[in-house]
Amino acid sequence: MRRPLIAGNWKMYKTPSEAEKFAQELKSIDIYKERDILVCVPFPAILSVSRVLSGTSILVGAQNMYPAKEGAYTGEVSPLMIKDSGASFVICGHSERRQIFKETDDFIAEKVKAALDYEITPILCVGETLQENEAGETFSVIERQLRTGLKFLSGNTIEKIVIAYEPVWAIGTGKNATPQQAQDVHRFIRKLIEQNYGQSASCIRILYGGSVKPENIDILMAEADIDGALVGGASLKIESFSRIVGFQRI
Ligand code: PGA
Repeated sequence: MRRPLIAGNWKMYKTPSEAEKFAQELKSIDIYKERDILVCVPFPAILSVSRVLSGTSILVGAQNMYPAKEGAYTGEVSPLMIKDSGASFVICGHSERRQIFKETDDFIAEKVKAALDYEITPILCVGETLQENEAGETFSVIERQLRTGLKFLSGNTIEKIVIAYEPVWAIGTGKNATPQQAQDVHRFIRKLIEQNYGQSASCIRILYGGSVKPENIDILMAEADIDGALVGGASLKIESFSRIVGFQRI
């Protein structure tokens, strides 16, 4: 009943011309009626990638934004700007934003709210660090990130968001969580949302991210609460991304 979503996160890779070329190649990948495909591209490429992909079912997203309509925020990009360029999704609170740019749970909550205010789907990222994982704090960290990150949301808006569980120790390391580890956290997330927002929890898509590749996508997608993937490195090459998009049901 939940439509799978495979999202690429290009991070700070591909110039606008490389991105446009890649978008042309993306047009050749197999489209599955019952799956959503999304590419979250760098700001300068949103417009050209959206133009190339218009008329296809491949969706375009941003990787970040500032939670205000406009204003004196030198160097920042607003929800209105990304939307007008063709983005319908935005990643909020990626661990690289949390760690490198010191984004807090409260600031991320503002981004989630701003995205919804502009009818952009936020992908709220949560995930524990290696240290937190080893200290047995995984569930408490996820709970804190979710409670604060979703604090402005009401019962009706919760259905419009996507959550991505990305254990920080699995991002870009080649070490993915086992399907069972990921499933346990995804189930925990869904239960937490259910406690706070009731039945809406059953329609929310929860993606797994962290070293997703052609070799592990099928077993991850076989888990009951894994509704898709947020893919970094493996989304940069057409061969690996199209294989992930075309995951097999096992
Ligand atoms: P990775 O990145 O697939 O390269 O581990 C995932 C992410 O950061 O979203």
